[in-house]
Amino acid sequence: MKVLSSHLCGVCFVFMWTIRSTSSLDVSGTHQGIPPAVVKLWASAFGGEMKSIAAKYSGSQLLQKKYKEFEHSVRVEEIDGLKLVKKLAENMEEMFRKKADAMKRLVEAAEEAHLQHEEDANLQYEYFNAVLINEVDEEGNNVELGGDFILQPNDHFNNLSVNLSLSVVQVPTNMYNKDSAIVNGVYWSEALNKVFVDNFERDPSLIWQYFGSAKGFFRQYPGIKWTPDEHGVIAFDCRNRKW
Ligand SMILES: *[C@@H]1O[C@H](CO)[C@@H](O)[C@H](O)[C@H]1NC(C)=O
Ligand SMILES: *[C@@H]1O[C@H](CO)[C@@H](O)[C@H](O)[C@H]1NC(C)=O
Repeated sequence: MKVLSSHLCGVCFVFMWTIRSTSSLDVSGTHQGIPPAVVKLWASAFGGEMKSIAAKYSGSQLLQKKYKEFEHSVRVEEIDGLKLVKKLAENMEEMFRKKADAMKRLVEAAEEAHLQHEEDANLQYEYFNAVLINEVDEEGNNVELGGDFILQPNDHFNNLSVNLSLSVVQVPTNMYNKDSAIVNGVYWSEALNKVFVDNFERDPSLIWQYFGSAKGFFRQYPGIKWTPDEHGVIAFDCRNRKW
């Protein structure tokens, strides 16, 4: 569809260009210019090229061939193209609106929670660290910032094992995961859990929801287990992402 429309535009462009060159030649008469006949030739060569490219990439011939195979068993139905495009546009608008609403709810909740929070340099707070969940030490005890975190495969998330009621927090290896700024940020941003869940209930087509803090932690919903790379490093740092 995209290829086809861009070629259609290409054709329009050639067309306009042809008209403009001929008319300017007519007006300026004495100027040395490209003879209209040559321009016409180019345009038609260009047009032919466009047509063959469009045929090649739109797969129209293949479609025609396939159609021949099924001709007797298919039914032709008239479709109102304009209506179809309108419907598509409406669906897309609705989809973007829902995503934007979800985002707005998160931003508002984050602002509110941050406002309510009083920074406490000595704050102790155990959170679910994405790498440490379900990890145990030699004695079989949960490690700090870990703990039992129930995960279930979910086909909406590529069959990855997730937890739909909680988010997890990821901190890159080069940051101390109990740093006071991080612990405070993680603490107040717990408020986002219920917004994540609520957003997903309202719009089940949502996939991952995130909150990336300038302090360097990354909250991800649904909760999922992260594993460090082969060197034991968690390189991902939400502050380096383009968004
Ligand atoms: C998510 O994990 C928490 C902590 O283990 C657990 O209490 C909760 O039931 C889990 N949620 C789901 C949907 O499994
Ligand atoms: C998820 O797993 C189910 C059953 O194992 C399979 O039928 C399905 O195709 C998988 N979905 C994805 C997105 O991999």
